[in-house]
Order: sequence, then structure tokens, then C-alpha cells
Amino acid sequence: MKQREHFGSRFAVIAAMAGSAVGLGNIWRFPYILGEYGGAAFILLYVAACLLLALPIFYAESLIGRASRSDTFGAMKKLAPGTAWRWAGLLTVVSPLLLLSYYSVVGGWSVEYLFKSLSFSFTDVPADDIPHLFGRFISSPWQPLFAHTAFMGLVAGVVLGGVKGGIEKFSKVAMPALFLLILAILVYSLTLPGAGRGVEYLLKPDFSKVTADAGAAALGQAFFSLSLGVGTILTYASYIKKDENLMVSGLGTAVSDLLFALIAAFAVIPAVFAAGLQPGSGPGLVFETLPYIFHKMGQGVPLVSTLVSSVFFVAILAAALTSAISMLEVGVAFLTDERGMKRRTATWILAFGCWAVGILCSLSFGPLSHVKVLGYTFFDFLDHLCSDWLLPLGGLIFTLFVGWKMSKKEVRNEFTNGETVNTRIFGVIYFLMRFVTPVGIVIVFLTNLLM
Ligand code: TRP
Repeated sequence: MKQREHFGSRFAVIAAMAGSAVGLGNIWRFPYILGEYGGAAFILLYVAACLLLALPIFYAESLIGRASRSDTFGAMKKLAPGTAWRWAGLLTVVSPLLLLSYYSVVGGWSVEYLFKSLSFSFTDVPADDIPHLFGRFISSPWQPLFAHTAFMGLVAGVVLGGVKGGIEKFSKVAMPALFLLILAILVYSLTLPGAGRGVEYLLKPDFSKVTADAGAAALGQAFFSLSLGVGTILTYASYIKKDENLMVSGLGTAVSDLLFALIAAFAVIPAVFAAGLQPGSGPGLVFETLPYIFHKMGQGVPLVSTLVSSVFFVAILAAALTSAISMLEVGVAFLTDERGMKRRTATWILAFGCWAVGILCSLSFGPLSHVKVLGYTFFDFLDHLCSDWLLPLGGLIFTLFVGWKMSKKEVRNEFTNGETVNTRIFGVIYFLMRFVTPVGIVIVFLTNLLM
């Protein structure tokens, strides 16, 4: 058997997992979903969903990955040979491809916004006009399509060329840079006149907003943001050393991901209020707001605004790329390993398929905005299908597998590294994985179906 590679250190493990987790989900998705579901109350729901439902699944996935030392398909085959569990692997091939189809559209928006900032488009207009640029861009038929194509091309290029060299080294610089930038934006954003109302919106919960819908959205966001339910974390965990503490790496990833999202929300929402926008105005929120902040930050010096916003969009692009790659890679690994296809062929076929589906998503903000699937535009439909249903479903399967299919001894042994760590809290985690998390997910599913 060939020797499997390992992550070198605890820091490397958390950095790699956080690299997949931190992406557009934190900076683009969290602020606008939070705005749609009512601010502070949603934050509370989200934190609860992260700790009670998402974190146990994070542990379930890492347990399966490290115990089996293989990808999702292989893991199920190894740990439960000859059973129907391996079909769970199939779900984990389909969902990331659907995810990528619309993720790439948003990735395209970052490409376009990088271009716009490099060409001084944001500094040529008064700050108050900037939010309207997004609507104009997104409703035009061609521009977003070009951008989507460019982003998908980048993703395919990287997957073809290998992830190791360039992109990994690059994102090691880009991610901390992104973090510092958001922190700076946060501080600046709080000084804008009118920002106080945004802070209040984020801190004062309105409990009438705690609805079944909001609960499902919080769960979906937690899964999306932590890259759960499709085997990404499972696969990464298969590279973790046997003496690494799974509880610590899981908690480290979840906390950094949560922190990133909260900082993004506190950077964006106050500025939304300061710019006179509505927090519930949908997927464009961050793209309408950030260039506005950058414009103000420059204090009339175009070069400063341009510099800050360009660095920011490069960093966002890097974060989006590292996440998007992990989505395409799952399918490519499946076709090459299980179907014997060449890497090149597999990459092009899948990237092309996602690109084609992405076209519908992209056009659903413009020419196809009137076409609805179950009351949603294509883009919203895919987003809801993935986040609210497919990812939690995948997570449910993983947690049932660990809680009910694997033996308690096996699970305990893996989680405690052979009774050397975490022996006391194992009982709590196991209880969560067996009862609380699956029941919680099913309740969210049912209320979502019946309401
Ligand atoms: N978590 C990433 C983000 O926040 C997106 C992502 C990458 C993802 N891989 C995933 C989401 C797998 C779900 C499943 O942008």
C-alpha cells in the first residue's frame, strides 16, 4: 500500500481546513443572509447551529476520514464494506458540482470587481452612486457571463496544473492579508456616520425573527461556511496524523471560520446603513457596500481607494479559488479514481458542465430574472437546494454513520487517540453525534417541508 501524505503540524491542519472553510461563504454569503433573516437574532441562531449541529458533523467527518484514510467513497467501502452506505459517496460528488455552478458566478463578480477597481471605475463616480453599479453590472447579459467564464477557467486551470505549488503558497499570504484588511475595514466602517444603527441591528435581537425559515437558513449557512456535508473535511482529515487531537483541530477551524464571518458582518452591515442601503437586499449586498467603503476610505485620493480595493478583491479571489478548487477536485478525484478517466478529461468535462449550469444562474439576475423554479430564480434555487437540503443531508448521513454504524469502541478510539486525549468530553460529543445533531437536522428538514 502506498504511504499516505500527512500534514506536518497542528497549525498546518487547521490552516488547511480553515482555508477550505473561509471563502465567499464568510464574506459574501453570511452578511446578506443575516440581513435577510433579521440581524442579531440570526446571529444567535447561527452560533447555535454551528455548535450543536455543524461542529458535531465536523467531528463525524474528520473521524471517518482519519479512521479510513481515504476519500468519501473509499471510506465507506473500507469502514462498511458491501453496504449501501457507499451511495452516500455519490451525493458527495453531485452536491459540490452544483455548488460550484453558482459559486463560480459569485467568483466571477469578484473578478469583475477587481477589474473595476484596477481601472478606477469606483473612484470615477461619487461614492453614493457606487451601490448602483452592481445592479447595472448584474442585469447586463454579457459582462457577468464573461466574468463567470474567467473564474471557471481559473479554477479548471489550477485543478489541471496542480494545487500544491502556486495557489497554496499564494493563499498563505492572501488569507492573513484578507483577515487584516477586513479588520481594518471593520474599524473604519464603524466610524461612518449612521453606522450606529447597523451595530444596533447586529446586537439587539428581535426575537420575532426567530422562525423555522431562519433556523433552516442558519443551519444551511453553517454547513456552507464550514464546507460540511460533501466530504471535503473528510478528505482533508484523511491526511491528519494519528496523534493529532481532532477535537482541537475541529474547534480551531470552526472558531476561526465563525470569527471571520462575524468580523465580515460587523464590517459590512454598519456600512450598509451608512450608505442608506437595505440589509435584506440580497446577494449583491457586499458588492454594493465594500467599494463604497473603499471610496470613503480613500478620502478623495483615488490611488488609495484603488490600492485598498484591489488588494481586497485579489485576496477575496484567492479565498474563493481555494474553496472552488476543493469543489471541483472531489468530482475529478471520483472520475479518475473510480472510473479510470484521465485527469485532464475529467477536469474539462466537469468544469464545462458546471460552467453551463452557471450560465443559467448568472442570467437569473438579468434576462432570466422572471424564470422561477419553485418560486426561486435559478441562482436562489440552486443555493437553497444545496445549502438547505443537500449539505445537511450529507451531514446527516455522516453523523448517522459515526453514531450508529461504526462501533462505539472504534469511534472512541479514534476520537481519543487510543484513550490518550479528550476521554472526558468524548461522552458529550458522542451523545451529540448520535442524538442531538441528527434529530436537530430532521426537525429543521420537517419544519422546512411543512411550513
Ligand atoms: N466553505 C466555503 C466558503 O465559505 C465554500 C466551500 C468550499 C464549501 N468547499 C465546500 C461549501 C464544500 C460546502 C461544501 O466559501
